[in-house]
Amino acid sequence: MAGQDQALIVKGLGKQYATPGEPLVVLRNVDLELNRGDAMSITGPSGSGKSTLLYILGSLEQPTSGTFRLGEQEPLKMSAEGLAVYRNRSIGFIFQDHHLLPQLTALQNVLLPSLASAPADPAEVKKRAQGLLDRVGLADRATHLPAELSGGERQRVAIARALIHRPALLLADEPTGNLDRKRADEVSSLLLELQREENSILIVVTHSMELAERHPLRAELIDGALEMD
Ligand SMILES: Nc1ncnc2c1ncn2[C@@H]1O[C@H](COP(=O)(O)OP(=O)(O)OP(=O)(O)O)[C@@H](O)[C@H]1O
Ligand SMILES: [Mg+2]
Repeated sequence: MAGQDQALIVKGLGKQYATPGEPLVVLRNVDLELNRGDAMSITGPSGSGKSTLLYILGSLEQPTSGTFRLGEQEPLKMSAEGLAVYRNRSIGFIFQDHHLLPQLTALQNVLLPSLASAPADPAEVKKRAQGLLDRVGLADRATHLPAELSGGERQRVAIARALIHRPALLLADEPTGNLDRKRADEVSSLLLELQREENSILIVVTHSMELAERHPLRAELIDGALEMD
């Protein structure tokens, strides 16, 4: 299948933190295989290592053991520059707090990832950014600053920003944690729709069983390992 070559394959991932006493084992043995178009939720108790796992897959943190690859890309074998490109091009990160820059407009925030490397066609990137803002229902808010947007609107800008480079892997850590029920449902629906349209892999970490159950694939992080539902 066309999309299979962009699969996410995780094998035996482990993460420990050194402490004055015994090391703190957060991830023990995480195995996972997802193909393009897959959408999975991860639940688990607070402190079970959900954010740690997302940060490792997004190459914001290093594991202590194990391997993973996204298609042909193996972040654990990359140089610092290679990692920066991997993060920028292949990963879209959405956090609980939108992480928008307050001094930039909605459109500028969506374009921000493209500033890291001079885009081949700046006009095309701008068109894509405007198209994404339109897609998330904010075409008429393009020149608003984050402070001039509601919480749900900010999170929709953050989703548009995460998608600007058509990333193979979308990682969302409690993306609706700060929103009321109605906004949370809207943002979650939008995220799932866009993920399907873009045929990316989506992993959403959440405490909400209701949000978790909207995803075709569901896993729980228990005792340092992923158990599929
Ligand atoms: N830099 C660090 N140094 C030491 N321990 C850490 C570090 N970062 C996280 N931890 C520990 O690792 C464990 C897992 O943290 P993590 O943030 O991944 O949990 P989580 O499942 O996302 O929790 P929550 O649902 O509360 O967000 C926690 O016990 C935390 O204290
Ligand atoms: Mg967390």
